[in-house]
Amino acid sequence: MRVAILTGGGDCPGLNAAIRAVVRKGILFHHFEIIGVKRGWAGAMDWDTRLLDLDEVSGILPRGGTILSTSRTNPFKMDGGPEKIEENFKKHKIDALIAIGGEDTLGVASKLFQRGLKVVGVPKTIDNDLSGTDMTFGFDTAVSIVTEALDRIHTTAESHHRVMVVEVMGRHAGWIATAGGIAGGADVVLIPEKPFDIKVVSDLIKRRVSRGKTFSIVVVAEGATPTDTTDFFLKDQEKDAFGHVKLGGIGESLAKQIEKKTGFETRAVVLGHTQRGGTPTAFDRILATRYGVKAIDMVKNGEFGQMAALHGNQIVAVPLEEAVKKLKTVDEEFYRIAEVFFG
Ligand code: F6P
Repeated sequence: MRVAILTGGGDCPGLNAAIRAVVRKGILFHHFEIIGVKRGWAGAMDWDTRLLDLDEVSGILPRGGTILSTSRTNPFKMDGGPEKIEENFKKHKIDALIAIGGEDTLGVASKLFQRGLKVVGVPKTIDNDLSGTDMTFGFDTAVSIVTEALDRIHTTAESHHRVMVVEVMGRHAGWIATAGGIAGGADVVLIPEKPFDIKVVSDLIKRRVSRGKTFSIVVVAEGATPTDTTDFFLKDQEKDAFGHVKLGGIGESLAKQIEKKTGFETRAVVLGHTQRGGTPTAFDRILATRYGVKAIDMVKNGEFGQMAALHGNQIVAVPLEEAVKKLKTVDEEFYRIAEVFFG
């Protein structure tokens, strides 16, 4: 069997661990040939590929990013995009595809499956906002990076008696902000799921001062919005192929408002792409490896149109359609844990 594999969307720690797992199990146990498709769906349309043998994946387990490169290309937004992919698969005798991605990449995978392509999905994203699975790989690493940053920011906040606003990733879901905030001891966490009132935020900070605390740490997800406006704090209005605007700026704008309302010196820090970069945690290496092994076994068993998923402690197969139907947002119970420590 000839099996293609691609990584799409934003890069994410653990992608190489998943690729390595697919190649090792695929070649050594199932005797498949594995073809790496470069630059996500862009490479599937151009047929930009490389053969992945055991040597190609040797030593990549701890490496961040993806050896296959990635893109945010949406073939359904290109003239004849899906047809080009289908023709390439026929021409190059590809029997199945493993697509590693988040909601956008797997949304394309799901549509291609409905058109007849034999696809298996693997869930990745630092945002952890994909349905059908308890966790995506990359999330644990991002949360660890945010936690370390919050620890470091605490020391300077304490020394200078400042309010520090830390902007983290999360367009539509505040998983990184909530988990990072809990682990890093944030005094306020603001997420896209819960529009915030600047007065409530300022009162929480003032309450800390009234009990002798001379600094505060506010974690804000890039997609969080204030209650008095529906406008996002956009870097620019440009949208990507999946219709997402580029976010950024809420941290800086929030810091200004906090300083104005409380009178305390306030600074903003944007963690940005540091959250996606570098080596994956042990947890993410293991999760990505388990997903990779499951995905190639699913190909072997003909379980197409499905995604490898974590349910409790088990790796199971769930329909791709279910995974991409709706974003997984932060649940109330989890956010309430962060709220216990506000103010
Ligand atoms: O990978 C998802 C994500 O981390 C979002 O939280 C963020 O808005 C986006 O990627 C930024 O991606 P890029 O740098 O590719 O525009």
